[in-house]
Amino acid sequence: MSAPGSGRGQWSSQVGFVLAAAGSAVGLGNIWRFPYSAGENGGGAFVLVYLLCVLGLGLPVMLLEISLGRATQKTPVGAIRAVRPYGPWKGLGYLAIITGLGILSFYAVIAGQVVAYFVDYAQRVVTDQSIFSAYNGWESVVFFAVFLVLTVLVVMGGLQRGIERWSKILMPLLLILMLGIILRGIFLPGAGEGLRWLLMPDFSKLNLHVVLEAMAQAFFSLSLGMGAMLTYGSYLSKKQDIFHCGTWVVFFDTLVAVLAGLMIFPAVFALGQQPDAGPNLIFKVLPAVFAGMTGGNLVGAVFFFLLSLAALTSTVSLLEVISAYCIDERGWSRARTVWIAAGTTLLVGVPSALAWVGASPWATMRILGREGFFSLMDFAWVNLSLPFGALMLCIFATYVWGLDQAASEILSSSPGFRLLAAPWRFFVRWVCPIFIAVILASQLGVF
Ligand code: PHE
Repeated sequence: MSAPGSGRGQWSSQVGFVLAAAGSAVGLGNIWRFPYSAGENGGGAFVLVYLLCVLGLGLPVMLLEISLGRATQKTPVGAIRAVRPYGPWKGLGYLAIITGLGILSFYAVIAGQVVAYFVDYAQRVVTDQSIFSAYNGWESVVFFAVFLVLTVLVVMGGLQRGIERWSKILMPLLLILMLGIILRGIFLPGAGEGLRWLLMPDFSKLNLHVVLEAMAQAFFSLSLGMGAMLTYGSYLSKKQDIFHCGTWVVFFDTLVAVLAGLMIFPAVFALGQQPDAGPNLIFKVLPAVFAGMTGGNLVGAVFFFLLSLAALTSTVSLLEVISAYCIDERGWSRARTVWIAAGTTLLVGVPSALAWVGASPWATMRILGREGFFSLMDFAWVNLSLPFGALMLCIFATYVWGLDQAASEILSSSPGFRLLAAPWRFFVRWVCPIFIAVILASQLGVF
């Protein structure tokens, strides 16, 4: 492992990679977006389709991204160029970087909101459930900026000193706290209704739009479709087991999403709130849960603190993708790159921050059938760009890189993958691209 700026680093151990990749995967996608998306899309049926997407699309694409990263030892643009030095394919690498910036521009807004909650819980006794409506747009911009600066500081520390160290201790702690909150929620009177709603699929709620939402959520939650796992894979050594690592990350990420659902929905129903409240669902439900708990303020403070850190390990991976390009391919210094990338993200994200808490023209504008700039960003980058990126990567792997090449990269360090190599190739060649293309096309009004 080398220090930043002195050549390419590598993970000091397999555990280091798994923790950092899981740190990227586990974040607001699981704890904020999964519940709100499930809430808007009917509960159980969404969850079922989500799980199928994780297995059938997420896992194959995860292995593909990590293997392309490791085989080329390069980040998205460089990786594509290493396989195909000329022609339009490198556009896919640039798309990854732009998508990273787009996601970071609204993701850090939510992360900033989480920090704001932490500060509130740590400073005063929060008893009201209307804490969310106490924020205004400029506060949201300030916390957004603060979060970007935190991200910059970690990414500047380079690979091991920055990313690995954070991930190691805090993920397990967050998980334990979530279990505690779940236990509290499921014993509230009326909570059973929420469990049923989350776990029993009601197939009348299923349609192509729900499938798109579940599919996009799967890619988002697993940090796929924009080169984050490819970039992390590029720091993996040839000895480390891609199959084992990839499966672990997928498993762990899915576990946390399901736990987040169990944490939110029993409480939603027990407290008489609406599951389809939208992006601010957890910001309304959790304060109500904490308000009814002895020591709730402390639990709230610790929870939002840990969630800020989970979000940080994800924003770090987003900024890493954007920066690694300028560092590896353009030869910029790490410090310069990271500040410029964060500054650009800030500019792009201010409208999202203003739209997030409402009461500004950015919150009420309508584009592409989306209300408000925030939800436009969320839709464009998560629902459209990530699945499109994953689709193109499958096509690239099948027709340009070659699936034999890809499979042998995985097999070289994962003997346990032998029996699965054939089905994996079938999924990357046929199932993933066709499924993603059909769902995207249907949602873009092609049919
Ligand atoms: N997977 C992260 C989360 O669930 C978000 C993310 C998406 C991070 C894409 C990196 C790339 O919070």
